[in-house]
Amino acid sequence: MNRESSSSPDSVEFRYRKCAEQLASRGQDHVLRWWDDLGAPQREHLLSEIDSIPWSHLDPLVETHVCNRPQDQVLTDLEPAVVFPHQRHADDAALYRDAVVLGDELIRAGKVAAFTVAGGQGTRLGFEGPKGAVTITPVREKTLFQLFAETIVAVRKRYGVAIRWYIMTNPGNHRQTVGFLEDRDFFGLPSQDVVLFSQGMLPSFDLEGKILLEDKHRLALAPDGHGGSLKSLVASGALQEMASLGIEIISYFQVDNPLVKPFDPLFIGLHAKTGSEMSAKVASKVDDLERVGNVCMHEGRVVVIEYSDFPDDLAHAKGSDGSRMFDVGNLAIHLLNVGFVDRIIARKFELPYRRAEKTVTWVDENGFQRTPRAPNAIKLETFVFDALPLAKNPLLLEIDRAEEFSPVKNAKGVDSVESAIRDQIRRAAHWLEGARVSVPRKPDGEPDVIIEIAPSYARNADDVRRRVTRPPELYSGETIYIS
Ligand code: UTP
Repeated sequence: MNRESSSSPDSVEFRYRKCAEQLASRGQDHVLRWWDDLGAPQREHLLSEIDSIPWSHLDPLVETHVCNRPQDQVLTDLEPAVVFPHQRHADDAALYRDAVVLGDELIRAGKVAAFTVAGGQGTRLGFEGPKGAVTITPVREKTLFQLFAETIVAVRKRYGVAIRWYIMTNPGNHRQTVGFLEDRDFFGLPSQDVVLFSQGMLPSFDLEGKILLEDKHRLALAPDGHGGSLKSLVASGALQEMASLGIEIISYFQVDNPLVKPFDPLFIGLHAKTGSEMSAKVASKVDDLERVGNVCMHEGRVVVIEYSDFPDDLAHAKGSDGSRMFDVGNLAIHLLNVGFVDRIIARKFELPYRRAEKTVTWVDENGFQRTPRAPNAIKLETFVFDALPLAKNPLLLEIDRAEEFSPVKNAKGVDSVESAIRDQIRRAAHWLEGARVSVPRKPDGEPDVIIEIAPSYARNADDVRRRVTRPPELYSGETIYIS
């Protein structure tokens, strides 16, 4: 390399020197330890990863969250949260009716956009490829992305409005996700209405606060949590675009829930009527220790406490009637106002970082790449539900989980593809029975048919009731696709 080119700010040598200085000032220059062994593309890769780190966020956190345990992660003085009930009381009837009318108006006016977070690593599921590409429906074997796209197509048709769908990926699955959707022509959605952007990544640290290398030329990086979705809405320009299009409400949902109803007029209407800046759908917990976030009150604010941080005595606490005192589970289905995200993220990033101990593959000082059996690393993440305490008038709407929640987390058993398919069939059977269709059932009560109802046909039980004019006879063992 000649002298001139090595002193040009774009040259790898110049960047290396600058990077080495900055890393040394942070005590992190060990990540360049293998520089002399690396080829040109690997050097380029390593430098660009180092450049992508948001150091100004990270620097103070190494001391407070990596080398030490943050003090604010476990809250005391928790109280049960108050929710809008699923079973409507007579007093609420008018409020709920008006809310549905308002929700319909807001959707029709193009004020609501869909936002799918698909930046997770899906480690538990172990599927090769983006989670949205997992086939999930019982008959046509549609993928999660297809199901959501068809839902949005149906909503656009029903309300006669162009609806934007924002999807957040991570740098590791972004290209695959874009390719997957492009190859399938966005399942009928105009491509300009599907906006994809990637979330940020943060390095993993060893227990002394040193950044881990996953390979000699790669940092051990991980997505910065679903709270990072709010940051990347801002960083990608999506939030600004929403504001310029007149979108006021972001309907946030996770890529792993095939039952989600992102355009629920009741939820949207209640959110707007109560002046909520951020709302959450919640459900009664299945058992005391269910692995969902516990929605509680703390000093007058709504907070969500992860199951792993929730005190055991509170998890098991019972009221005088024997019912569970802390019974509100967070389902990760939210509405957020565009103006709220602007306030808590764009102006100043206000979500707290959380520390998690994880098992991470790393390269040791001898150059051995090692995958330990026990946690060896600290990861830092932010969570979207940590925005709830920052919101004015946060609304919690209780829903029936059989209608709206069946996440795909694991390869087998609870919260798997298998359970999600079962739950879709159960829901479809229930919708048909509501329309006076007699669904054959097995002795254990499960439907004895495989049914899939496409979003183009119905998005809820009322749609089915309206559309089935002459209930057909169904036979045991049949496979039925309704579109
Ligand atoms: P989970 O916490 O269930 O993580 O994410 P996961 O990545 O799907 O699966 P595991 O834990 O590795 O097995 C819940 C939702 O939040 C999204 C996921 O894509 C999923 O929709 N998510 C999570 C992000 O978008 N970014 C993240 O950094 C973390």
